[in-house]
Amino acid sequence: MNNLTKVSRRRFLATTGTGIFGLSTFGCYKSKPHLEDKDRPTLHRPTGMDDAAWADVRAQFILDPSIIYMNNASLGMPPAIVAEAVAAGYKAVSREPSRGKHDLSEQISQLVIPGLSRLLGTNANEIALTRNATEALHLQAVGLDLQPGDEVIFTTQEHPAGLRPWLFRADRHGIKATDIFVPSPLKSEEHLIGLFENAITPRTRAIAFCHVTRGGHLYPVKKLSEMARNHGLISLVDGAQAVGMFPIDLHDLGCDAYSASLHKWLLGPVGTGVLYISESARQHIRSAYAHDGTLDSPAFAPPGTADLPLRAGISAAISFMETIGLDNVELRTRYLSDYLKEQLSEMNGIKLLSGGTLRTSCPGSTIFEVEDVDAIKIVSTTNKMHSIHIDEHKRDGHNAIRVSTHIYNTKTEVDRLVEVLQGFI
Ligand SMILES: Cc1ncc(COP(=O)(O)O)c(C=O)c1O
Repeated sequence: MNNLTKVSRRRFLATTGTGIFGLSTFGCYKSKPHLEDKDRPTLHRPTGMDDAAWADVRAQFILDPSIIYMNNASLGMPPAIVAEAVAAGYKAVSREPSRGKHDLSEQISQLVIPGLSRLLGTNANEIALTRNATEALHLQAVGLDLQPGDEVIFTTQEHPAGLRPWLFRADRHGIKATDIFVPSPLKSEEHLIGLFENAITPRTRAIAFCHVTRGGHLYPVKKLSEMARNHGLISLVDGAQAVGMFPIDLHDLGCDAYSASLHKWLLGPVGTGVLYISESARQHIRSAYAHDGTLDSPAFAPPGTADLPLRAGISAAISFMETIGLDNVELRTRYLSDYLKEQLSEMNGIKLLSGGTLRTSCPGSTIFEVEDVDAIKIVSTTNKMHSIHIDEHKRDGHNAIRVSTHIYNTKTEVDRLVEVLQGFI
């Protein structure tokens, strides 16, 4: 490592908080890195949208150069700095558990919680760390005060993680779980709001919906939450596909609860998530953990010994994203998915299901059908024969494929995917 690289890496680590463990613990990759650690450039905010402007960002990832990874909506690819932070955390608890636990806990309370509340526009006391979005979604649903016969409305586009807690409550607590059919692509924000509004009955107590669906449809969280408030309803949001893809301000959006993964678009350590319960909603959503949780001390955070190295490693992901800027992430992911959509729309035999407007489609994920070809077959052949990782989206009666491109993907990779897809038509 030359001196210049050492200094710039040290500065970056100091700002990420991963520097807490010192440089000596870094650089322990198991798989072959694309770039050697010493060759990785200092991270800067990119100034353009094309691949050249993002080459230094791409170089921050360990990336297997023989694979094109476009399944970020399933699991994001953490940058090297995140992998290093987690490895350093494990070394710290393995070297001396008490001190390691203390240092990691401090890092979580001083960097991770404040960083996440900054990133999500919340108060620090409104968020709790979880293992994933599923855990957070379960907690926000089972904590909601509901009587037998009370109704919750959600959509047919929920992920099973957002759906199952309501089925559980219907089964165990006698609530009414009502789904409304939402078509793909979304017709408009107004249409979606109308679907919810028309379904409300005198027994409705809450609505639950995604910020971005599994298929990449973007919901108008602010308008839906406002509509819910006007009807005296609680709004509960699944943000698993949204956090890390574009800027989010939860106080401005005005929803009562919000659950998200941090290992998808935020590129955090695998097995990390977050639960937000607004201060004003605490009286309606009680802790599922502590019978004596109070409004001042709501006890939403899953108790017990936690995966401290993973949680502490979230600070590296936050700082990585803040250096690049989430506004920039949004533009870059939109740039790549627009490029993909442009090419798909020129191909015969392709039906795009992702909405055509900025308001109804998210920046990063694109879904489409290839006429008369099974999506699962395409995904598995593309993976096995061409080393391109994409996902299927066989839901709501669709036979679709999902391509989720993140900041490090390139137009050349999109071209390669399109070339492979041509082979199925
Ligand atoms: C919309 C949505 N909600 C929830 C989840 C579950 O996320 P996690 O695996 O972090 O629990 C997913 C995962 O793909 C998702 O797409």
